[in-house]
Amino acid sequence: DIAYVNGRFGPLADAVVSIEDRGFQFGDGVYEVIRTYRGQPFAIEEHLARLERSAQALQLLIGQTRDQWSCLIREGLRLSQFPETKIYLQITRGQAPRDHPFPVSSAPTTVLTFREFHPLDVSVRNAGVQAMSFEDIRWGRCDIKSVNLLANVLARQRAKEAGVFEAILVREGMVTEGSVSNVMVVRNGVVQTAPEGHRILSGVTRAFVLELARKEGIPVTESFVTREELLAASEVFLTGTTVEVLPVVRVDGYAIGSGSPGSVSRLLSRRFEALVG
Ligand code: PDD
Repeated sequence: DIAYVNGRFGPLADAVVSIEDRGFQFGDGVYEVIRTYRGQPFAIEEHLARLERSAQALQLLIGQTRDQWSCLIREGLRLSQFPETKIYLQITRGQAPRDHPFPVSSAPTTVLTFREFHPLDVSVRNAGVQAMSFEDIRWGRCDIKSVNLLANVLARQRAKEAGVFEAILVREGMVTEGSVSNVMVVRNGVVQTAPEGHRILSGVTRAFVLELARKEGIPVTESFVTREELLAASEVFLTGTTVEVLPVVRVDGYAIGSGSPGSVSRLLSRRFEALVG
């Protein structure tokens, strides 16, 4: 595994940052996860645009232009040589004595890691997964892809303990998104998902899938569904870099629709595979 830290590539096992890094002490940083298809990073422009938006929201200065990021990513892929790679990018406000306000002078810490990407088993994808609902206790700016992931960590851990794939987050009765994915439902033939805004991360995959749905003539609504509407939906699926389009067949033990992946989920999954393949 390969890592890049502040200007230098090397083995991931040797890569280090300071214990006074603000990412470590405050979670004061932003990140992106990009994966390759056939060795090529997917939707790099969209991910870098979101990284810039996240950084801007935190008044974090990024040292790299998009072209420079692309070069770093290409170099990391050349060095790591996996069939498929999970690329992780993180920028923090850098190293400084622990004090809450921004340090007057500190250079951001820039980290990339390149690890082998293992896609979900085809059998899991075809069968669909189970999920559970879980209270969304995150802060008010879920649109920022910050490294503060404690609420997501707790939710996914609970899902793991319950033996299900994903925790679907619910705030004041409304479904926001998953702990690592966006959530879409199909109701009366309409694909419905939470609107962009402070309550969700605007997923790169989400945007591609909504566009694919529109191209197929499937109506799309960007508005919240309640937990009850989620349970009563004819289909539920997750979208995300790591999950792609993943049918959910059970939530909180209740079967969704027929209890197996529905036709809209399967169609959008196929269209997404075609798009990236
Ligand atoms: N997570 N919502 C949340 C809370 C996420 O963490 C993610 C992605 C998504 C999907 O976004 P995208 O389609 O751009 O991957 C939605 C990454 C993969 C992670 O934290 O590992």
